[in-house]
Amino acid sequence: MASSPDFKVKLSSLVTEVEAGLRAHLPPASNRPARIHEAMRYSLEAGGKRLRPVLALAAADLFGARAAALPAAVAIECVHTYSLIHDDLPAMDDDDLRRGRPTCHRQFDEATAILAGDALLTHAFALLATAYADRPALAVALVRELGEAAGSTRLIGGQMEDMLGETRATITADDLDFIHRNKTAAMIELALVAGGRCGGASDAVIATLRRAGAQLGLTFQIVDDILDATRTSAELGKTAGKDAAAGKATYVKVHGLEASRAAATRCTEAALAALRELPGDTTFLTALATSMLARTA
Ligand code: IPE
Ligand code: IPE
Ligand code: MG
Ligand code: MG
Ligand code: MG
Repeated sequence: MASSPDFKVKLSSLVTEVEAGLRAHLPPASNRPARIHEAMRYSLEAGGKRLRPVLALAAADLFGARAAALPAAVAIECVHTYSLIHDDLPAMDDDDLRRGRPTCHRQFDEATAILAGDALLTHAFALLATAYADRPALAVALVRELGEAAGSTRLIGGQMEDMLGETRATITADDLDFIHRNKTAAMIELALVAGGRCGGASDAVIATLRRAGAQLGLTFQIVDDILDATRTSAELGKTAGKDAAAGKATYVKVHGLEASRAAATRCTEAALAALRELPGDTTFLTALATSMLARTA
């Protein structure tokens, strides 16, 4: 279904819902100080594939709970966008291009970019607590899941080892696995889990969503590593070839292109196997998983 009209229509309708949710759930750009709200919206509204919020909505859809999952999807995209703004800073990957536009610190300045990232991260938790105030158990679960996925043992931990990897003499397959599972897969796992939680999924189903998300997340970062090595900046909307230049610990560096493609295929197959265990109509999620792998074709 990944290249079928049905998949494309559904994907674009979910992206439209996400875009509307982002506009509705972010502080207006006119709030004082305008500069911080402009910077937050500049990075968020630049576009991007919206993969994580779409995964959250699609997971919630399995339980007929798509509308309920929208604030959670927005919160996840806020945290993801903050992570990109900080990832691009001169002290980290030092990138000039993101989502086809100058990075936040290039368009504004470093201080504003740091603060815009901080503000998006903080806003995500406030949004969860506010939007789910009438379902306190759900609000607590989502806040805990987001805090764990974005915290020092997962997203931040992965980013820390990614930075340390630039100067490490040798990178083992285990180091690389830690980086990928945490800097990237944690938030992709979270997206599926948050959708399931909004739909009231059982613990067993949440565990399956987590397993599927972990494999999809690994696929996604392996593919990101392959694309960095094989595509142009114009195609990616971000600077290509930066990983090799910075000596990053990537799948391509440690295993080579061929083995990276094979690993992405294996992880996708594992994700598809997990998706088959889920209740409801998983046609769209299956097609989305397949399309994530097809980006390297
Ligand atoms: C980029 O994520 C950072 C990685 C984890 C590889 P995306 O490729 O999802 O970026 P956007 O959101 O589409 O811009
Ligand atoms: C970024 O990984 C992961 C996070 C932002 C948490 P990369 O550094 O590979 O992402 P890109 O390639 O700059 O999008
Ligand atoms: Mg990085
Ligand atoms: Mg980067
Ligand atoms: Mg990358």
